[in-house]
Amino acid sequence: MLECPRFTAVGAVNVGGWTGFAKEGLRNEGIRKLPAAAQALLETQKQLRSYISNFTFNLGFSGKFYHTGTVEEDEGDDLLLKYVDEFWWFPHMWSHMQPHLFHNESSLLEQMVLNKEFALEHNIPVDMGYAVAPHHSGVYPVHLQLYEAWRRVWNIRVTSTEEYPHLKPARYRKGFIHNNIMVLPRQTCGLFTHTIYYKEYPGGPKELDKSIRGGELFLTVLLNPISIFMTHLSNYGNDRLGLYTFVHLASFLRSWTNLKLHTLPPLQLAHKYFQLFPEQRNPLWQNPCDDKRHKDIWSKEKTCDRLPKFMVVGPQKTGTTALYLFLLMHPSISSNFPSPKTFEEVQFFNTNNYHKGIDWYMEFFPVPSNVSTDFMFEKSANYFPSEETPQRAAALLPKAKIITLLINPSDRAYSWYQHQRAHEDRTALQFTFYEVISARKGAPAELRSLQSRCLIPGLYATHLDRWLMYYPANQVMIIDGHQLRSDPTAVMDEVQKFLGVIPHFNYSQTLTFDPQKGFWCQLLEGGKTKCLGKSKGRKYPSMDPEARAYLSRYYREHNVELSKLLHRLGQPLPSWLREELQKVR
Ligand code: A3P
Repeated sequence: MLECPRFTAVGAVNVGGWTGFAKEGLRNEGIRKLPAAAQALLETQKQLRSYISNFTFNLGFSGKFYHTGTVEEDEGDDLLLKYVDEFWWFPHMWSHMQPHLFHNESSLLEQMVLNKEFALEHNIPVDMGYAVAPHHSGVYPVHLQLYEAWRRVWNIRVTSTEEYPHLKPARYRKGFIHNNIMVLPRQTCGLFTHTIYYKEYPGGPKELDKSIRGGELFLTVLLNPISIFMTHLSNYGNDRLGLYTFVHLASFLRSWTNLKLHTLPPLQLAHKYFQLFPEQRNPLWQNPCDDKRHKDIWSKEKTCDRLPKFMVVGPQKTGTTALYLFLLMHPSISSNFPSPKTFEEVQFFNTNNYHKGIDWYMEFFPVPSNVSTDFMFEKSANYFPSEETPQRAAALLPKAKIITLLINPSDRAYSWYQHQRAHEDRTALQFTFYEVISARKGAPAELRSLQSRCLIPGLYATHLDRWLMYYPANQVMIIDGHQLRSDPTAVMDEVQKFLGVIPHFNYSQTLTFDPQKGFWCQLLEGGKTKCLGKSKGRKYPSMDPEARAYLSRYYREHNVELSKLLHRLGQPLPSWLREELQKVR
């Protein structure tokens, strides 16, 4: 017996299939379950329980196809329903339609209600909380309408798919939770609609036996603490290839490993899964059109183009609004719509908005065919220091260009503090800047919280390193915010080059220094200027020397790291950084 200590813990194997009421029966006479096949299913379940405790088949149903076969097949349907209490059941779609084809949620609801009425009429339990979508459609990439309809009609809490994040490589499949529905990774068992007969197995039956006896199927169970398999009803009829496969697999596992296998009902199984893999709870959205299989199950009414080509990621108070407006002056560049609720930045990747999914995000961007330019961007200044954002952004927008602005982190912290005071933040009004930056452990929680929001974005090297883990350096532009402030024309020339945007726009003719504002502003026709609002370029006393000295010390190591990073990237050091480095010596 093979010693395999890691797997002496309980492993779980759940096997599902579609019952005699699924569509395949209509397409192909003779493959549906005859009474004998239904009987065999029950007997095999008993047999499998001697290898896998509590083993129970999960049977899916598409009620529309009930009693639509030959007389004998209809008897098979009836026999299955006679044994209704012996199995677990899950709703498939009423007519086996793919959910992503329903853009309108109410027609999806109607279909589900029909299947539920069918279940109630035939005493099929409706409270298992598990459902499976035909061809994985709507599960991933997420079709929000499906999740909503599942929740409303069936109170679905669990589903499974082979498609997240991709079908292949199988070992990278993961789970995630969306809209309170736990999506479990499903494994491939090597049996498909066309592999109906043992003798006709692709490559010969030897191939299937190899997979069972130490090959892919065996390894799948060995390497995954939880395995969910599913095959079509045709494989439970005919020469019962499905039953052959699972019985032989279980028997081989018994002979060659000391795995203790167990089956759990779907809801318990899902809880167990996310206890084992809590880090998988949060999904990582990708572009549905980057994977052919995903594209095929992505609603035709949704495009994949309503996404930005570049992003201005911050941090806050470095001149991001000025850059945003200068970019919008370019005839070929457009940005997202403002949020109808907050009129503020989208803040998708760094907040709970991310869990609303990519449909929510894409709503912020025009359909490219409806606008004159598809060179779209968004600016969310809190992306820069956010831990999750680079990974999430790179998963959805791997080709995007990333622009960040850096000013002296001490000035940034001070500007941010003044911004909080202007917004009447109680803590900022109560404490001096020095008190905020120098607060120690044990200080009031709200003061410590204000302190970290003030100081942490200035740890530039740490944040940049994270962006550079997910984006190649040639997709990341680091702008000196002090230069943007003093010489925006030169900076905008560089930005245009970096973005590769045409035509070249001459900012020297459209920007002018406004002495009253003390900043560069847009030059309008007739010689008037349009400057940023009162909240940008505020007047406030300069930072006191004690605070400046404190911050120079605080950021010293980080600034040294930043200089090394810029050196590695072959970029010149901004003058404020050189000055700070001088202070180190
Ligand atoms: P202050 O208001 O502290 O001077 P952000 O837009 O990222 O919040 O950054 C605001 C800062 O942008 C302002 O901070 C200001 O110094 C700087 N800035 C740079 N160019 C500007 C411009 N042309 N007009 C106004 N502010 C500008």
